[in-house]
Amino acid sequence: MSDYRIIELSRHPEEKVKVNGWIYNKRSSGKVRFIILRDGTGYLQCVAFIKDVPPEVFETMDTITLESSVTVEGTVRMDARAPGGVELSLTNLVVHHVAEEYPISKKDHGTAFLMENRHLWLRSSRQVAILRTRSEIEQSFRDYFYNNGFTLIDSPILTPAACEGTTTLFQTDYFEEKAFLSQSGQLYLEPACMALGKVYCFGPTFRAEKSKTRRHLMEFWMLEPEVAFATLDDVMDLAEDFLVYVVSRVLDRCGEELKRIERDTKFLENVQKPFPRISYKEAVDRLQKLGSDIKYGDDFGGDDETVLTQNEQRPMMVNRYPSKVKAFYMEPDPQDPELALCVDVLAPEGYGEIIGGSERIHDHDLLLKRIQEHNLPVCAFQWYLDIRKYGTVRHGGFGIGLERTVAWICGLPHVRETIPYPRMLYKLYP
Ligand code: 4AD
Ligand code: MG
Repeated sequence: MSDYRIIELSRHPEEKVKVNGWIYNKRSSGKVRFIILRDGTGYLQCVAFIKDVPPEVFETMDTITLESSVTVEGTVRMDARAPGGVELSLTNLVVHHVAEEYPISKKDHGTAFLMENRHLWLRSSRQVAILRTRSEIEQSFRDYFYNNGFTLIDSPILTPAACEGTTTLFQTDYFEEKAFLSQSGQLYLEPACMALGKVYCFGPTFRAEKSKTRRHLMEFWMLEPEVAFATLDDVMDLAEDFLVYVVSRVLDRCGEELKRIERDTKFLENVQKPFPRISYKEAVDRLQKLGSDIKYGDDFGGDDETVLTQNEQRPMMVNRYPSKVKAFYMEPDPQDPELALCVDVLAPEGYGEIIGGSERIHDHDLLLKRIQEHNLPVCAFQWYLDIRKYGTVRHGGFGIGLERTVAWICGLPHVRETIPYPRMLYKLYP
């Protein structure tokens, strides 16, 4: 008798099999007992008739508690009405552990309770579907860049300097020195793209943001490509092509999961090229027309992005923000040096920023000036300045936040459900 996972069973009709899992649900009627087994790949209805199983197994089926771990044995029956199209005619049940009364039930629990019990909440069908979709999105991130000639460059987590502003650094001791948890791998990718042409990194990044919003985490995963000789238009083309790939791949492979999360996939089917590209100035005009009191020169808040994108069908590429609301390393726009050659990609349906990218300053003296203007320690950036001394070229890239992308694709109201163990303001448990 072979062991299978639930997802594989439809390929083994009428075969005698064993499946490992946990009791998800159960019910009884007269001389029949039903168990729904879950194993992370699916849900399997197991049916036991009193005549088919040993008497003690039949009795166990009455007493067994939800979330107990078991191995079921039986024959696979094709049944179009059953979830996954198969059912198991049970012949035996082996119990590994009888679970205590499970704290999470079908009734509504408050978010605080669920977050305290995140380690158990992960087992619920909705969370399983979200995590499987996250995993597929992550894999599609990697595959896109791997298949398009990018080299993976792992950037360090412990760093001596700030990339995205000094106000959101997590500091730690590094022997006699100070170190900071990385906010972005970008500064390390720029030298690497001068070695390899097209590179990317993908890892956890950290921001000590005193923000309690539906989009902010202290620890989040970011994928960042960086390309030598790329202009802002190249960066936007890359972001567009990449997002179309990711969304179509998820539609292709996560149909079951999206159904369970109750995601309306027609919104995702609209994610096709070309994405609208509008300037920051145009975006401010639109916001003002929509009743916002934003002034030209202000950065967008989360609410502005929501207003801007809530009726959009496709991601929107807002480009050329004022340099003073953006990071120090962005190339000025030759048409108007007060603006940066940068882009924020705002996800539709009110989700807002999922990608931030730009062309980088490639002139040594201008970069040095910007580092000084931002009161950054020049000595900590000497190596970064070096890149502008040896065959410097235009180059650029972007960073995409995984959790915000998962929230958008799954249609979730908050990023806390997009990552297995969210790190949020004052929340570090479990
Ligand atoms: O716009 P950001 O700060 O850009 C950078 O870090 C650049 N160095 C990237 C690059 O050009 N290589 O961050 C990029 C993305 C955001 O668009 C957002 O999706 C995500 O990272 N992000 C966060 N996600 C969750 N919680 C936070 N606190 C986030 N901060 C940024
Ligand atoms: Mg940004």
